[in-house]
Amino acid sequence: MIQATAPGKVYLFGEHAVVYGRPAIACAIDLRTRVRLFSSKREGVHVGRGRAVESVHRLPYLNEAVRLVEEVGGQPISNVKLKITTSIPTGAGLGSSAAVVVATIGALAYGFGLDIPREKIAKMGHEVERRVQGSASPTDTHLSTFGGTYIMPERRRLNPPMCSMVVGDTRKSGSTRALVGMVRELKERYPAVVDGIMDSIAALSLEGRALLEKGEFSELGRLMSINHSLLGALGVSTPELERLVHTVMGAGAYGAKITGAGGGGCIVCLVDEKDSVEVVDAIRRTKARAYPVHPAEDGLRVEG
Ligand code: MEV
Repeated sequence: MIQATAPGKVYLFGEHAVVYGRPAIACAIDLRTRVRLFSSKREGVHVGRGRAVESVHRLPYLNEAVRLVEEVGGQPISNVKLKITTSIPTGAGLGSSAAVVVATIGALAYGFGLDIPREKIAKMGHEVERRVQGSASPTDTHLSTFGGTYIMPERRRLNPPMCSMVVGDTRKSGSTRALVGMVRELKERYPAVVDGIMDSIAALSLEGRALLEKGEFSELGRLMSINHSLLGALGVSTPELERLVHTVMGAGAYGAKITGAGGGGCIVCLVDEKDSVEVVDAIRRTKARAYPVHPAEDGLRVEG
């Protein structure tokens, strides 16, 4: 049996602005997806999640991942079963699809004796997301492959935020494609206004990078809250996300923002260790899910 795991991620700054080439800071987190690869007598590739087992053809991300490994490896992938488990909430803006794709590619490459460098695995992961979604930024697949904290799109590794982080999940999901489209329409209609917002988000990412290097987390949180307000100005927040942000700020967080495309999904906040239990409890009292998370320095891990 071969096992591969890969992490999810949060954006500390810059989602949506990164679509227009502005800097963004993303951080891999210690919520991971695990893919176990078993040999099987059945032809083809089958996937088990919980008790259900189904053909890979029914699962677009995994199906494209298998196809791409076949293309790159020049050999058919068959007679295997993949078992998937995850601690990453799915469709919530935490990079769950990137994590399952990267872990699947890692497990298959190892299992079929293909020596695929990490850079190439990250590119393949991005290609799979692009094929399934139509468009995707390389952020999620890069972070799932390499772990760490990065400024994108230049892909420079930064110090991780060594303080407590808590993710709050509204349990509602937004469509990344629709939200990116909505921001594009707003930008086309009011370029002077929206470009100004994008430039401010870019400035926050650059200030954030300096604060991360200095380890000034309460100031970092303050800037994340400004980023959140700018995402609100772009129209991607929701009453549930606003409620979570107000809840965690009331419970003592340094700062909080949407992470990902918005329209539902999650917020992330930075918090002093001593206040993190209070923040988690406050989120749970609203009936949302809370995940205390830490930066993950490891990306894809494969064990034979
Ligand atoms: C979605 O998680 C983040 C966006 O910036 C889109 C992307 O970068 O692909 C909204």
